[in-house]
Amino acid sequence: MTTRAALFAGLLLATTAATAQEIKPGSAFLSPEMRRQQSDEARNPGFLWVEQGEELFSRRSGETPACIACHAEPGRSLKGAATRYPQVDAGSGKLLNLEGRIEQCRTQRQKQAAFGYESPELLGLTAYVASLSRGQPMSVTTDGAAKPYLEAGRAFYERRQGQLNLSCRQCHDDLVGEKLRGDTISHGVSTGYPAYRLEWNGVGSLHRRLRACSLGVRATQFDYGAPEYLALELYLAARAKGLPLESPGLRR
Ligand code: HEC
Ligand code: HEC
Repeated sequence: MTTRAALFAGLLLATTAATAQEIKPGSAFLSPEMRRQQSDEARNPGFLWVEQGEELFSRRSGETPACIACHAEPGRSLKGAATRYPQVDAGSGKLLNLEGRIEQCRTQRQKQAAFGYESPELLGLTAYVASLSRGQPMSVTTDGAAKPYLEAGRAFYERRQGQLNLSCRQCHDDLVGEKLRGDTISHGVSTGYPAYRLEWNGVGSLHRRLRACSLGVRATQFDYGAPEYLALELYLAARAKGLPLESPGLRR
C-alpha cells in the first residue's frame, strides 16, 4: 500500500461514524420504475413468496403445531423482529440470523426436520416474517455477546480477498455509483433480503447474494449459513442501522 493509499484508508476508518449517516438502501440505486415496483405489493413478484410463507405459517400437519399456534397475530407480535437479526442466541451463544431462528423453531419447537437453507419453505417463511417489518428501522444489538461477531464481520468486510484481491469495502464504499457489468455498485446494504432477483428468476437469501460477490472476486464461497457470512451479515446490519427494512427487495 502506498503512503497515500494508507492515509486514505486511515481517513476512511476514522470517518466511519460520519459516513454511516450517508449509507443508502439498495432501492436508492434502482431505476425509478423498479423502485415503484418494489414498493407495490401487487407488482413485486417477491410477494408471491411472502404469500406462500404466510400460508405455511398457519399450516398444521398432524400433531405438529403451526407457527401461528405460538405466534398469534404475527402482524403485531413479529412486527420489527427481523430488524433485530442477526442476534446472539441466549441458549447456545451462537449468532443466529432470521433463517437460523426459524430453523430453530422448526427443529426444536415443531420437532420437524429442518427446511434447509434456500429451500422454498425457508425462503417463503423468511420473506414473510421479514415483510412484517417492512419500513421498520434496522436495530441489531452490537455490544455485549454480539461484539466479537461484529468485529469478525467488520474484519471480513475490510479484508482483501480472491484473485482480484478486493475487499467488500473497496467496492461498496469506495466505488459506489460506478457501473460494473451493467450494475450500479450500491452500498451493499442487506435490508432488501430475501430479495427477488431477475437474474435468479426468483427469491434468494442474503447469503446467496454474498456468494455471488465472493465469486465475483474469485474468492472462497462460504456455505449458506456459514459462521463467516453470519458475522458479515451482522456487520452489514449494523452498518445499516436506522435504515428501513425493505424485503422483499427487487433486484436485477
Ligand atoms: C468487485 C466489486 C464488488 C466486491 C468486491 C463486492 N461486491 Fe457486493 N456487489 C457488487 C455488485 C456489482 C453488486 C450488485 C449491485 C449492487 O447492489 O451493489 C453487489 C451487491 C451486493 C449486495 C446486495 C445489495 C442490494 O441492495 O441488493 C450486498 C449485500 C453486497 N454486495 C455485499 C458485499 C460484501 C459483504 C462483499 C465482501 C464479501 C462484497 N459485496 C464484495 C460488487 C462487489
Ligand atoms: C411451540 C411454540 C412455537 C412454535 C410452533 C414456533 N415457534 Fe417461533 N418462537 C417460539 C418461542 C418461545 C420463541 C422465542 C425464542 C427465544 O427468543 O429464545 C420463538 C421465536 C421466534 C422468532 C423470533 C422472534 C423475535 O422477536 O426474535 C421467529 C421469527 C419465529 N419464532 C418464527 C417461527 C416460525 C416461522 C415458526 C414455524 C416454522 C415458529 N416460529 C414456530 C415458539 C414457537
